[in-house]
Amino acid sequence: MKRIKINRLLASDTSIDKVLVKGWVRTKRDSKEFSFMELNDGSCLKNIQIIADSQLENYSQIGVITTGSAIGVEGRLVESPGKGQKWEIHADSVEIINIAPEDYPLQKKRHSDEFLRTIAHLRARTNKYGAAFRIRSEMAFAIHKFYNEKGFRYLHTPIITGSDCEGAGEMFRVTSLEPDAVAKAGKMDFNQDFFAHEANLTVSGQLSAEMFALALGDVYTFGPTFRAENSNTSRHVAEFWMVEPEMAFCDLDGNMDHAEELVKYLTLHAVTNCSEDIAVFTDFVDKGLKKVLDTLIQQEYARISYDDAIDLLLKSKKEFEYKVESGKDLQSEHERFLAEEYFKKPVFLINYPEKIKPFYMRLNDDGRTVAAVDLLVPRIGELIGGSQREERLEMLEQRMDKMGLSKETYWWYLDSRRFGSVPHAGFGMGFERFLMLITGITNIRDVIPFPRTPGNIDF
Ligand code: 4AD
Ligand code: MG
Repeated sequence: MKRIKINRLLASDTSIDKVLVKGWVRTKRDSKEFSFMELNDGSCLKNIQIIADSQLENYSQIGVITTGSAIGVEGRLVESPGKGQKWEIHADSVEIINIAPEDYPLQKKRHSDEFLRTIAHLRARTNKYGAAFRIRSEMAFAIHKFYNEKGFRYLHTPIITGSDCEGAGEMFRVTSLEPDAVAKAGKMDFNQDFFAHEANLTVSGQLSAEMFALALGDVYTFGPTFRAENSNTSRHVAEFWMVEPEMAFCDLDGNMDHAEELVKYLTLHAVTNCSEDIAVFTDFVDKGLKKVLDTLIQQEYARISYDDAIDLLLKSKKEFEYKVESGKDLQSEHERFLAEEYFKKPVFLINYPEKIKPFYMRLNDDGRTVAAVDLLVPRIGELIGGSQREERLEMLEQRMDKMGLSKETYWWYLDSRRFGSVPHAGFGMGFERFLMLITGITNIRDVIPFPRTPGNIDF
């Protein structure tokens, strides 16, 4: 007999004479004549109740079933007289697949997030993390759906790269040289290395995406990115996923319109298609979340310049840990103040000083700022970073010279500005930060299956 998943059974509109379910026992209680088990198979938040009659052939074995054990049940799907559930299964036979011993760590109903992080290999078996990772899966699908509907092409940008997109030097090195050999030689000899060239894990697929936007029009890449920045915060991980659209014939305004459309679409998709799992977070994790989700979907996002944002921050009576200074990057406390307290909704900040932004951003007519855009959101701060790109060869070369970047290394990038260069724009949205936003989860380590952070790669 073929196994049916619990989410399908719970959605059934008739009783069914014979079904087979398999899953993990969440709780079990026994009476004289019956054993009641709550079975979960991960297909949805809800469990299905199994009722095993003491007349069953292997009833004595059922006695040893513990929390966390895996079982298969054949039986009848019948209407449940109990509250809060439409269906239950009356077992005809129970197959024991694996008995979890007493030291199964998930015995209690509630565990702290900190403890669950130490058992990241098991935490998806709890209601909260099961919900979080089902939402993550659904959101990844929604990203592809959104871009497919809009006619964007999906591009696989390389994971191993020979260039540093952000120019921040926060890259993980990729090499096949043996540490001992390097130590002996006293240096890394790239000529002897696998690619005969310095190689790193990518921090962003943008530069490759630009090349393809100038060929296919609208493209996006969605994949893992890596940053060796030593920031041990609740919003940074060393390996994260980023969705990066890149659009030909698009300027900064078009870029923002697109970002707003994306965030609205994904949030609405979550609320509509993951309502049961989202309710875990609106009801139990964060009472203010419902309002945040409504705001994300319904409100028009604010748009202001970096200069105006600095003015607002300086005029605010707020005591910040880090001083607000014109010409400097904003700290996340400043970003959160703007989105959370001042605008009370997402806000795009544009036109940052060129000094604090990467080489590829388009220089504005004032010669002082670039056409950069960050989207700041309540509770998190920066969700999106992007820009209109510098499409003018001469300006780009000047900026690269100023920043000390090698034109030889970026020859292919510069080629795109020589052959049919057009205005284009794009951005990157941190997938984990987006998941934090729509679930109210406050630590980025809790929205990625196995987080990588400084000093930590257990799993
Ligand atoms: O602002 P960033 O650095 O922008 C870029 O990498 C551009 N090349 C993207 C582009 O224009 N195609 O990163 C984009 C986003 C951030 O806004 C943030 O949401 C996320 O990526 N991000 C991180 N998320 C988790 N952990 C980290 N260490 C992150 N660093 C950036
Ligand atoms: Mg950024």
